[in-house]
This record gives sequence, structure tokens and C-alpha cells, in this order.
Amino acid sequence: MTTETVHVPLGDRSYDVRIGEDLIAHAAREIGPLLARKRVAILTDKTVAAAHLDALITGLGDIDAVSLALPAGEATKSWAMLERSVEWLLAEKIERRDVMIALGGGVIGDLGGFAAAILRRGIRFVQVPTSLLAQVDSSVGGKTAINSPAAGKNLIGAFHQPALVLADIGVLDTLTPRDFLAGYGEVAKYGLLGDEAFFSWLEANGPALAAGDRALRARAVKRSVEMKSEIVARDETEQGDRALLNLGHTFCHALEAATGYSDRLLHGEGVAVGCALAFELSSRLGLCSQEDPSRVRAHLKAMGMKTDLADIPGDLPGAEALVDLMGQDKKVIDGQLRFIMARGIGQAFVTADVPRDAVVRLLEDALDARA
Ligand code: GLY
Repeated sequence: MTTETVHVPLGDRSYDVRIGEDLIAHAAREIGPLLARKRVAILTDKTVAAAHLDALITGLGDIDAVSLALPAGEATKSWAMLERSVEWLLAEKIERRDVMIALGGGVIGDLGGFAAAILRRGIRFVQVPTSLLAQVDSSVGGKTAINSPAAGKNLIGAFHQPALVLADIGVLDTLTPRDFLAGYGEVAKYGLLGDEAFFSWLEANGPALAAGDRALRARAVKRSVEMKSEIVARDETEQGDRALLNLGHTFCHALEAATGYSDRLLHGEGVAVGCALAFELSSRLGLCSQEDPSRVRAHLKAMGMKTDLADIPGDLPGAEALVDLMGQDKKVIDGQLRFIMARGIGQAFVTADVPRDAVVRLLEDALDARA
């Protein structure tokens, strides 16, 4: 497989996303040109370290590498782990011109990126995403963050673009089917928000891709990253269009909060359920045809993914409480929720013009279907 490159054009913050096999094995070739001296710091988590850290250190060849492996899991996106990471980087004498490598999924990428943003007022960092979700979404675009224990996810952070992203398709082989499919929720999102042909391609190729076909996986990652790059280049700091990337996320954030950010619902699973709800709401508001939400749900179901509130185990709060949980969404402006709605598959748009009652009724019906 040839390595593909997607460029993210952001002036002096531009960078490449490299997509292919064996990129970790060739880390010295990929990362070496960025280095002012042959020394890097690798931030990772214990699960990813067990699977990939030795390979990365071997791939770095004669580049000296120090590493810190934090506990795996969402709880690591905390003030305490940010402090630990930054103090470790300082203790390792990582300088302003040095490069940090974030080796892991979205948690390590978000935390590591934020640590890089504030260490010595900003050092460069390389994302080596090891989950599908991180390869197609969180490693690209420069959003970095930790969570507020009181107020919610990703509320404390900075825009800090990586200097390079290495999406090694081979590492996806080590994901559990559940984690792979959670990431696939974000892949499907790209088709749904802006590229119907890509969604059709996923309908045809999704099952083989999930079964392990690396060439198909690379194509899906590349198209997803191309779409993200185009949107981020238009609107780096989410003044407008970038919010399109949050299709399904307003519902997802409420459902994640309602399930305590636990194993009951992974983020990408919530995105898939949220996309199905966003299309159902768009249809009820007369924005898209009735066939569109059915097509979205049919594909997610064919992939064996969570699609409906009925697929989320355990109790959920009522519809009003779920809408209240949307209030911390970062798309809120002047207390007004903004939703990503769709005029059809591949035709999403941002609007504040969604009546609260319509959202409540949609969720009531979805909750009733659980009974
Ligand atoms: N994950 C959404 C964004 O990067 O804007």
C-alpha cells in the first residue's frame, strides 16, 4: 500500500496527515525531519504502550525517546494528568524547539496536545493516533482539551495544531470490534454531513472494511481526513462551518452525560445514535425526506452498530432532562442551542432554528420505543 498524504493548509500552522501501513516502523524517516535534536518525548497510555510503544521506539532508531504511560480511559483527560504530563515534560528538560509525540487514541491526543500547547507557551507535537476515531477525527484539526469534573467534557483546552499526523492503518488491527465500530460512527458522519457518494461507498464497502480490509480502511480514513482538512482550513476556530463536524454530537453529548461517560456508551457509538436522531429530526421538521433517516439507520444497523436509544443499556433520564443536558454543548450561543440538521444525505447545515418542543417530542418517542 502506498502512503497517502493529506495536507492541512493553515498557513504557518500547515501540516501533513500521512496515511498508510508501517508508518510507526518508519517513525525516524517520518518524524526525523521535524527534529532540532535527536530527542523526543512520547506521551501514551498503558494499554497503547503495551501494544505499540516498543514498535515506536524501535521505529525511531537512533532518536532518543523518553516516555510516560498514563492510565487508559476518559478519566485521564483531567487537571491532575495534565499537571503530571507537563511536570514530566519539564523534568525531562523538553525544550521549546523539541517535539512531543502523542501515541494513543482521542484521550491521549487531546491531553497531549493541550500539554504541548501550554508547555513553555507551546511546543510542537506529532499525533500518532491508534484508534479509528482518533485517525479520522480527533488527531486532525488542532482541538485539544481536558474535561471539567463539574461542567463536562472538553471545556478546558486550546486550538493547537500538530506538526504532523501519522495514521498507521496497521494499528487498527489491534482494536476490538466494538472500538473499531465506534470510530466508524465518525467515518459515517463525514458521508452524512457532506458527501453522499462517500456514504454510498460506505454502504457498499463498510462490512469488508470492518472485517479488516486494510486498503478499504486506508481509503475511508483518507476521505474522512480530506473532508476534515477542507472544513478546518475554512474555519479553524469554529466560527461557522466547523460545527458541521459535530453532526450528531449535540445528542451524543447529552447521552454520554446521561450514561456517566461510561462503557455503556462509547463516544463514537453516541455519534452514530446522534446522527440517526439528527436525520429523524430533520425529516420531522420537513427538511429532508422520510427515506433519509431510514437509510441512515439501515446502514448503521447493517454494520452492527448502536442506532437507537433502545440499544443503550440501562436507564436513561426523561426527554426534558436529556435536552437540559445539551445546555453545556459548546455550540450554545447566548443560551441558544445550535443543531446540525440535514436537507438530505451529504447536505448538513448549522441552525439555531430548532424548536425545543420538537427535540423533546423526538426524544420522548425514542425513549418510548425502549419500553
Ligand atoms: N471533532 C470535531 C472537530 O474537530 O471540530
